[in-house]
Amino acid sequence: MGSSQQRHPDSRDFKHPRACRLRARPSSTQRYVGEAVNLPALASPDRITLLLGESTSLRFAPRADVCVAEIIGSLADAEGAAAVLADARTRLMEPGGLVIPHRAVTLAAAVRLSDLLPDQPVAFAESALPYMRDILDWHGRPFDVRLRVENPPADALLSEGAPVEVLDFNGDLQTQQCTTTGLAITRPGLVDGVLTWLNLWCLPDDEPLDALRMKTNWVTIYLPLFDSPVPVEPGDVLELTFAAALSDDWVHPDYQLQAVLHTADGRQHRGALVSPHHGAPSGPTRSTGSSFPRTDRHGPDAPAHRGLARGLLRAFRRDGKVRSLEVARPR
Ligand SMILES: C[S@@+](CC[C@H](N)C(=O)[O-])C[C@H]1O[C@@H](n2cnc3c(N)ncnc32)[C@H](O)[C@@H]1O
Repeated sequence: MGSSQQRHPDSRDFKHPRACRLRARPSSTQRYVGEAVNLPALASPDRITLLLGESTSLRFAPRADVCVAEIIGSLADAEGAAAVLADARTRLMEPGGLVIPHRAVTLAAAVRLSDLLPDQPVAFAESALPYMRDILDWHGRPFDVRLRVENPPADALLSEGAPVEVLDFNGDLQTQQCTTTGLAITRPGLVDGVLTWLNLWCLPDDEPLDALRMKTNWVTIYLPLFDSPVPVEPGDVLELTFAAALSDDWVHPDYQLQAVLHTADGRQHRGALVSPHHGAPSGPTRSTGSSFPRTDRHGPDAPAHRGLARGLLRAFRRDGKVRSLEVARPR
């Protein structure tokens, strides 16, 4: 994190007199050193102060007028933006200071996983198995990883998208929230979960970045709800309750979903998912079971490991450990 007396370190035209910028953690010391080396080219040393550390542990004066943060997840709050920026606003910024980005929203729509990856088996690629084992070994027991799906086909969505998580960084910023929304089914198909994606406003009047429809640094996330796909038709409603509550690190949220799918035959199909940031409930993470492979079923020859998705899989690491995987569908 750094503060500038005159302008934002990355923008010579920035109008605000002081700025703070969230910077990489100590594990990113190299990046910090790189920034320090480059600083003299940006401004004289008395105008920018570069600090190394997590914003939540830092103190500095004077307080900042502007804070630019790059800690938005594919689920908007997954990286702890609400808690981190609420803390920054309270301790590190002047009252009325400006946070960039302005707003982040997670939207959700009803889908079936296999429709997101058409023409390929729904399974992890062989090359992903070491990463998957790494994740589960790190955790110590099986759990459902969050499945990031890059470039899903737009016609896989069976309902409109509706906001389920809203972070207003310059307004009423909530670190915990619970939204219930009715996703009206617009096309016949099969539903076994929801696809979520990010809308991000850097400034209030900007057009938001849309992680579903635009090529961005964020991808969509599939969250399973039902063991078996449920047939749906227009007029059916997926009633979705989406809750984010701070985990025991008081920064990153655990997510919980509950769903009731009301179908035309008068039936109600119930599903649920618990997706913790770390740690897992003692039982299955889904009330109806898991749709992802479990370590206890994983030998090298286990069926779940064969014929795995041919799409690219990327592994996302935190603290040197793989924490989530990405399935990419070739464009
Ligand atoms: C999406 S990355 C952006 C990295 C960098 N800005 C870049 O362009 O390469 C988010 C970074 O913010 C860091 N981070 C997360 N919470 C932070 C906090 N409270 N204070 C400082 N850095 C934090 C993470 O460790 C990670 O390096």
